[in-house]
Amino acid sequence: MPKRVKFEFKFYGFHSGIVLLEKRAMKICCIGAGYVGGPTMAMIAHKCEDIEVTVVDLNESRIAAWNSGDLPVYEPGLEEIVTQNRNNNLFFSTQVDEKVREADMIFISVNTPTKDYGSGSGQAADLRFVESCARGIARAGGGDKIVVEKSTVPVRTAQMVKEILDSANNGYNYQVISNPEFLAEGTAMADLEAPDRVLIGGESSVAGQAAVEKVASIYSQWVPRERIITTNLWSSELSKLTANAFLAQRISSINAISALCEASEANVDEVAKAIGTDSRIGPKFLKSSIGFGGSCFQKDVLNLCYLCRHFDLPEVAGYWEQVIKMNEYQKERFVTRLLDSMFNTVSGKRLAILGYAFKKDTNDARESPAIGICRRLLEEKANLAIYDPRVTKASILGTLGLSELEAEERIEFCATAKQACQGAHAIALLTEWDEFKQLDYSAIYPTMQQPAILFDGRNLLDLDALRTIGYRAHGIGKV
Ligand code: UDX
Ligand code: UDX
Repeated sequence: MPKRVKFEFKFYGFHSGIVLLEKRAMKICCIGAGYVGGPTMAMIAHKCEDIEVTVVDLNESRIAAWNSGDLPVYEPGLEEIVTQNRNNNLFFSTQVDEKVREADMIFISVNTPTKDYGSGSGQAADLRFVESCARGIARAGGGDKIVVEKSTVPVRTAQMVKEILDSANNGYNYQVISNPEFLAEGTAMADLEAPDRVLIGGESSVAGQAAVEKVASIYSQWVPRERIITTNLWSSELSKLTANAFLAQRISSINAISALCEASEANVDEVAKAIGTDSRIGPKFLKSSIGFGGSCFQKDVLNLCYLCRHFDLPEVAGYWEQVIKMNEYQKERFVTRLLDSMFNTVSGKRLAILGYAFKKDTNDARESPAIGICRRLLEEKANLAIYDPRVTKASILGTLGLSELEAEERIEFCATAKQACQGAHAIALLTEWDEFKQLDYSAIYPTMQQPAILFDGRNLLDLDALRTIGYRAHGIGKV
């Protein structure tokens, strides 16, 4: 079998009569130009000039957007890095098979949603996209390859990927590596630039360890070696699910305490501060809220529960299921308190919804707690005036499952927060965008129906100051 030439030379034109050649040590192809694939590959291209990175996706309009001035993902700092590196050593393409064939290393970064059909529906991860990537890589051939699982997957998925690759029987060697991504949306670029750790799992064989080292050598171009952790494949896969489950569990724990605070006149922010100063507990992820959202936490905890049941560990599954139940309870509690304070009816009342993204600094509304809350308020026959600085109308309609026509009578999409609040009976602050801290609440107050009610679902605002203005103001976990 002819060996691939590992060093490629790219012709870069003439300069003062000298032919400029640029060395590319490696070609990477990433399948999936989403919230994870796009930013991660942009950072690799930015930090590793000697690597050519191509991000491919089946979705043509998504790739067109990555190649335009209007990127499909909003992340602070992303646009600058993409603009600097695009068409230099960072490319976005829909030529999936060709780019896969040419690559030395392929990252699988497609979505792995919760299954909504058949066996495991509602809990198991739907791996059909990962499987089709593995089949596509096997079909494409082109040489020996390292295949990196970037998508969050159930433990032992690498075995399925490896079996599919090996069954191609095409004479090429495939190494499967697990390299889960820990970036959080809204801070993706900072997380990628200075990660707490990079986790790389691989087989213990000589070839497996060589592949692990090859992946490590990419990150070590900017991440200190002591932050690059290597494990076996299964530990790496399971660590990602476990990390997300622990983070989600902390939020459900503090949210459980918030209900008790409201009943007992304690203040959850004060409790969080008091316990967070214990170095064993730590201060992060103790912000009580309307519940966690985003594409990962719920999906990954459900997936963990499914795995536990699969391995006949029902007590362990039941323990983690409680994290999800508490999150649902927190959203419903918010709606109930809002209704209580509005004389038990919101029918025909205008409610200003400030923020729809699942957290600040992202245009992502997947699994946002705002979805369930808005749905419940619509069920109660409220009229909603929604404002979010980044989430598009199409995305709001999509997540609510409404057509433009269905929404017409009941939802107004507002261009500013002030416009949303105009004439509203109540404000529900659902995302902690910085701009909501700066709003002139004194100027908004007289434009609202009286009594003007405000529910701060993120404990962002100073409730005493709002009460001085005249608002009936409420937060989470405090009276
Ligand atoms: C990621 C991870 O990969 C997922 O496992 C993790 O748990 C959450 O984050 P994300 O980047 O957020 O997913 O997903 P998304 O924004 O939906 O992007 C996935 C992309 O893959 C989409 O653009 C989709 O078009 C593309 N895709 C999907 C393919 O190109 N080929 C496929 O076969 C399937
Ligand atoms: C998460 C993990 O943090 C990240 O490591 C993993 O790679 C993907 O999943 P992400 O979902 O993007 O990242 O954001 P994160 O900051 O974790 O927030 C998730 C949700 O929890 C948001 O809805 C956020 O508002 C909520 N949250 C977070 C709280 O309610 N309180 C907190 O203290 C922290």
